[in-house]
Amino acid sequence: PERNICVIGSLNVDLVATATKIPVKGETILASSFAIRYGGKGANQAVACSRLGIQTNLVAKIGDDDYGRQAMEKLAEYSVNTSTVIKEELESTGLALIVVEEETGENVITVVSGANARLSSEDVLRHEEAIVSCSICLLQLEIPLDTVKKTIEIAKRNQIKVILNPAPFQLLNDEILYGIDILVPNVLELEILLGLHIPDSTWYSNDDSETAVIFGLVDRLQRKFQNLALVITLGKRGCIVCPHMENKHLNAFLIEPYISTHHTVDTTGAGDCFCGALAVGLMEYGNLLEAARFANIAAGISVTRQGTQESYPSREQVEYLLKDNQVARIQ
Ligand code: RIB
Ligand code: NA
Repeated sequence: PERNICVIGSLNVDLVATATKIPVKGETILASSFAIRYGGKGANQAVACSRLGIQTNLVAKIGDDDYGRQAMEKLAEYSVNTSTVIKEELESTGLALIVVEEETGENVITVVSGANARLSSEDVLRHEEAIVSCSICLLQLEIPLDTVKKTIEIAKRNQIKVILNPAPFQLLNDEILYGIDILVPNVLELEILLGLHIPDSTWYSNDDSETAVIFGLVDRLQRKFQNLALVITLGKRGCIVCPHMENKHLNAFLIEPYISTHHTVDTTGAGDCFCGALAVGLMEYGNLLEAARFANIAAGISVTRQGTQESYPSREQVEYLLKDNQVARIQ
């Protein structure tokens, strides 16, 4: 396999309202601005990889509409290989309704799957070449689980590394967990995966003994799934890297002069940026910890800019911050 990445996943058009707050149930609020952007976790991750300088194939489905055509043009601008993006007749391109909170840059997202729900195992089989010509395969859960399973099967058979970002969460069976190399959940997703609630104090503590509690839980999972590495994303706190059985805490990196989080304008798609950059970092450094450090910086840059794909950094930007140590840890 070549030094390429294949992303199999969703493509959406994001309808984004920015408002002073995220409404609660039954509430109507007025937005302060609106934008139409190109997103979808699959497409976002593909753009992140491509922006970071790796040739990236995207296997995805669009509807037969203007949104789909425009999204394809955008992807081509980012040099993503879209020859395996399939158009589904009589279907609409996936849509995401997003509200971003001005003050914090945090968001809520509702996805209308559209064509994404039609990306099938047969589609993946038909485009097997796009997968097996790569050395890393990147997956999320905005497409049918059977399609994810089929992809993992193909990847395993060809000794391709599989990274799964279990978002939005769907229950994963053992077959899937045995088949993947690296799982990249956020805190919520990890809680569902482990079937328990982990108090915030545990996550956000600097106390090593509490971090050890988390490592203990992840360890239990890894005892069963011996080849499974985890990188747990903690938002502004960075991430926890759990290579097989050997757990390490990687603190958050914040980019100078952004010493505080008040430079966070939009966290939408930061997780996608992280996953794409993790794949690129892995290819570059061959080491999960280094890859996570690289991804941490890439995602850190992305939250300081509006939008998803257009906020993702270039390789030079990330490397500059890595090398010159212009990176500060959140205490
Ligand atoms: O992760 C961010 C993405 O989630 C958005 O681009 C939206 O399309 C949804 O898929
Ligand atoms: Na952003």
